[in-house]
Amino acid sequence: MAQTLAVIGTGYVGLVSGVCFAEHGNTVWCMDVDQDKIERLRRGESPIYEPGLEPLLQRNLHEGRLIFTEDLRQAIHHATVVFLCLPTPPDQDGSADIHYVLDTARAIAEIVAHDGIDRLRILVNRSTVPVGTTEQVQTLVRQVAPSADIRVASNPEFMSEGNAVQQTLNPDRVVVGSSDPDVITVLRELYQPFVDDYDRPLLVMDDKSAEVTKYAANAFLALRISFMNELSRYCESVGADIELVRTGISLDPRIGRTYLHPGIGFGGSCLPKDIRALVRSAHQVGMSLQLVEATANINAEQLHRFVERIRHRFGGSLARRRFAVWGLAFKPNTDDVRESPAHKLISALLADGATITAYDPEAMDTTRRVLGDRIEYARDMYSALDGADALIVATEWAEFRMPDWDNIKSRLQENVIFDGRNLWHPNMMQVLGFEYHSIGRRSVFPGV
Ligand SMILES: NC(=O)c1ccc[n+]([C@@H]2O[C@H](COP(=O)([O-])OP(=O)(O)OC[C@H]3O[C@@H](n4cnc5c(N)ncnc54)[C@H](O)[C@@H]3O)[C@@H](O)[C@H]2O)c1
Repeated sequence: MAQTLAVIGTGYVGLVSGVCFAEHGNTVWCMDVDQDKIERLRRGESPIYEPGLEPLLQRNLHEGRLIFTEDLRQAIHHATVVFLCLPTPPDQDGSADIHYVLDTARAIAEIVAHDGIDRLRILVNRSTVPVGTTEQVQTLVRQVAPSADIRVASNPEFMSEGNAVQQTLNPDRVVVGSSDPDVITVLRELYQPFVDDYDRPLLVMDDKSAEVTKYAANAFLALRISFMNELSRYCESVGADIELVRTGISLDPRIGRTYLHPGIGFGGSCLPKDIRALVRSAHQVGMSLQLVEATANINAEQLHRFVERIRHRFGGSLARRRFAVWGLAFKPNTDDVRESPAHKLISALLADGATITAYDPEAMDTTRRVLGDRIEYARDMYSALDGADALIVATEWAEFRMPDWDNIKSRLQENVIFDGRNLWHPNMMQVLGFEYHSIGRRSVFPGV
């Protein structure tokens, strides 16, 4: 049966979750403190770039199943289930800052206690939070609203940006962290259209295991990338080709194909912060998670090494050098630049005196908000190249894969490419007349 839900926080997770719940017939009140975001959403404009999101947003808005508000009281008043989709940014020491979750849970409990709302039964946390947070929120809600019967559950989100709508509508699994039969029944019913018992199950576990599952998933994905990046350095040293090695191992079903691409490292709003938070959480119980710590270190070194290669190519200093950078988003198909390797790369090049002209199909505005006029922004991928000493590829957008090579050559000062995402084959680049440096493969030079 369709339900009335509230989603608090309409960022990447909250908005996609809210839209997808509405798509399955529920009425969803979406609340955010960002007034500008709410106004755009009321007009049917998505404040984020996420393929497939805007048409679903508009349809459900027009059909009255999605309502956007800045008022928490209004959002929760009719809801039976409230989802918290709030930021959990890293603290100074790397641990997850859960004050948005705690403050909002407290505010909800205060409203429930004050207004005598008895409809709201379940508070679900979808943010990525350290183990024990669900328990902490449950205790807090009981203290603030002792006569209300609000049950708190964990329901971590596993979607990845760029494919979030498809993944939310067809999740690999839904994890519900609760030992309360009533909560489990309600969430089973709500997720029933999203899951099936065979290959897209809803898994019920205790809240602590659900919280750890989310960190474990992200740490494991990050570990795969760092493994390949470490191996890419080895391949460079011994004259092997990491891309051939990747194909050779990824066809083994025990290994699989995903998250094995060597490059300039992982970024985004999740993997870096979540592995730092996991490491920190382990330290708090007197443990060190050595593989996870190595994963983070390898990731940082990978970018550093790439910058060193560029610096070395230009005689040890980048002062007065100009570079074109293709790609600013932390990965393709998103406008998200949080902890983007492209941004870190650009900052390192700028610190060394270089000038940057950048292009990204979707992440120009989000980059402007961070880097402002420290770099120049190109109209299109080709004009970024005008007068540049080299092209640097930082994000593997599909539109970069089959460029007009003559156009590139006519604009670059020298035909030099540093490819941080292995978009092209070294042999082809040599035939095309480029000096080409990539990850975990031999560099090639024209005519050599
Ligand atoms: N982005 C992802 O791919 C992804 C995937 C899985 C899990 N997560 C986790 O989900 C959580 C949310 O991530 P996100 O990427 O959606 O973050 P986000 O920054 O895109 O969105 C958070 C939203 O919450 C709003 N907000 C802040 N304080 C608020 C308050 N007091 N009341 C209402 N709204 C408030 C912000 O304005 C923002 O719109 C994080 O814990 C993150 O780690 C993210």
